[in-house]
Amino acid sequence: MNDIIHDYLLKHIPKSTPFFEELEAYAAANEVPIMEPDSLYCLLQILDIQKPKRILELGTAIGYSALKMADQLPDAEIITVERDEARYKQAVHNIQCYGASGRVKPLLTDAIEGSEEILAHGPFDAIFIDAAKAQYEKFFHIYTGSLAENGVIYSDNVLFKGLALDMSPEKQRKLRVARKMRNFNDFLVTHPDFDTTTIPLGDGLSISKRKKTGGVS
Ligand SMILES: C[S@@+](CC[C@H](N)C(=O)[O-])C[C@H]1O[C@@H](n2cnc3c(N)ncnc32)[C@H](O)[C@@H]1O
Repeated sequence: MNDIIHDYLLKHIPKSTPFFEELEAYAAANEVPIMEPDSLYCLLQILDIQKPKRILELGTAIGYSALKMADQLPDAEIITVERDEARYKQAVHNIQCYGASGRVKPLLTDAIEGSEEILAHGPFDAIFIDAAKAQYEKFFHIYTGSLAENGVIYSDNVLFKGLALDMSPEKQRKLRVARKMRNFNDFLVTHPDFDTTTIPLGDGLSISKRKKTGGVS
């Protein structure tokens, strides 16, 4: 995105509270990847319109985006999945500090290997995919069945710093993850059962909604 527009948009995002500022500082100091502020704010706004009661997040890290969602949606329950034990423990700590243990439930497991345990918590009104970039298509296949009728799947990092769009053979050969992400985007836009749109904020946020069946088009 044009830098002037990007700076302008960032300036108009509400400032984080001291609790979230601390998490942002911890993430920066410890190289924990958390959502970028513009795509996160956009996601929160859309979730506020959708009003999901039950959210599945794949990729907790330290619980930052899960707690932001909990903050935005006081009635929602959030199941969030992390396979890295140290990050999971930090997330548990942060969720306790925030006082959200009752409705933000972190699970220490791999989103693929532990899918049976995770699926038992469904159905979900919203699924937010923000774990290993090369596995997005697998996640989509595993979890679409647990999406409630009017549910929405949100996927972060789908533009992958623009590299997902760079088709030069040299880049595509080197950047396996970028190629995977491009394939995932192709998979989404040609999916027979979902309508997908991508918002070019942050690292690219895609929104996939199940197509309506029947009725007058
Ligand atoms: C980008 S970070 C998540 C950031 C978080 N959603 C936020 O914005 O605060 C991705 C996390 O997913 C975890 N992860 C990657 N692949 C995973 C998998 N297959 N199952 C569970 N967690 C996974 C990583 O360990 C990492 O902490």
